[in-house]
Amino acid sequence: MASKKKILLTGGAGYIGAHTAVELIEQGYETVLIDDFSKSDKTLLTGVEKITKRKPNFVEGDCKDFQFLEKVFSQNKFDSVIHFAAYKSVNESVEKPLMYYENNLGSMTTLLKVMEQFAVNEIIFSSSCTVYGQPDIIPVDETAPFKRAESPYGATKQMSERILEDTVLANKILKAISLRYFNPIGAHPSALIGELPIGIPGNLVPYVTQTAAGLRKKLTVFGSDYNTLDGSCLRDFIHVVDLAKAHVKALEKISKMPNRFEAFNLGTGEGVSVLGLVKKFIEVTEVELNYEVGPRRPGDIEKVYADPSKAKRLLGWETKLTLEEGLKDAWRWQEKLADD
Ligand code: WQD
Repeated sequence: MASKKKILLTGGAGYIGAHTAVELIEQGYETVLIDDFSKSDKTLLTGVEKITKRKPNFVEGDCKDFQFLEKVFSQNKFDSVIHFAAYKSVNESVEKPLMYYENNLGSMTTLLKVMEQFAVNEIIFSSSCTVYGQPDIIPVDETAPFKRAESPYGATKQMSERILEDTVLANKILKAISLRYFNPIGAHPSALIGELPIGIPGNLVPYVTQTAAGLRKKLTVFGSDYNTLDGSCLRDFIHVVDLAKAHVKALEKISKMPNRFEAFNLGTGEGVSVLGLVKKFIEVTEVELNYEVGPRRPGDIEKVYADPSKAKRLLGWETKLTLEEGLKDAWRWQEKLADD
């Protein structure tokens, strides 16, 4: 059981933040969650309370607001920060690049300045496999170069990692871990927290579950002429609970890393095609799913899945949950939303 370390979770009301809060609280960590509710609401905070039987310490506010962050840090002696707060829609970032650069980079720089002021020296950053673009070699490991990002969203993740690296070089006591998520899917098995896209889901699995629930008319599989076995794109779909547990491991190990900046791929290490996921969803849930194959989506990369061996070696973490469990948990969560 962890000592009573106190952790700040920015974006704690979001999908990955809420699932990580549950794992941390259950491991005995003290947590403070902040969120500006620009892309979330109180639903997941209520779910965290129901699962852990403890009301999470929550403060509403914006990570770009220096005074707000200063106040939170003056009222709490944090041991570490996990930085989830960022906008994450690829499409929206193409339409509104300045909103993405201002929010995602502004929150990172403001947070790092306040951390330095209060001598909080450990940060874990929510990054993404999108930093690689279309890797030349797959499975992709952490030494792969960053290609030109396919979207402003991806560019903010690349730039945020660079900001962390440069700040670690300048601030000799700061330690940073960047966790590069592949494709998070699923929900907590209690169905009390899960993915809550606002508006039309951009990501595959919430679109699948909303179509199966009758909220969407039809799922379109974007492209069947890729150079893959069934012609659809390949991705590495990781259960959100496995992902959340990786953050606990990163917290435990951050002070023992060989370097003060380390990045880790968080994936299963297996490529699954879009069509393969769709068929697996129908098989495991036995629900009707109206789908068709349509044209490619601009900006999509063809194939990406992780070499997760560095996380296994240095964090002592690997995925344990299957695609089937992720799809079943996602469906159970969708059905629960329908009942509410
Ligand atoms: C996955 C595959 C689509 C919807 C992005 C970010 C990544 C992370 C997850 C935030 C693609 C196909 C999708 C649909 C489809 N960011 N698809 N029909 O683009 O791999 O990754 O989101 O969490 O950083 O880059 O995820 O779920 O949008 O798409 O066929 O209705 O599913 O073409 O091949 P993506 P995605």
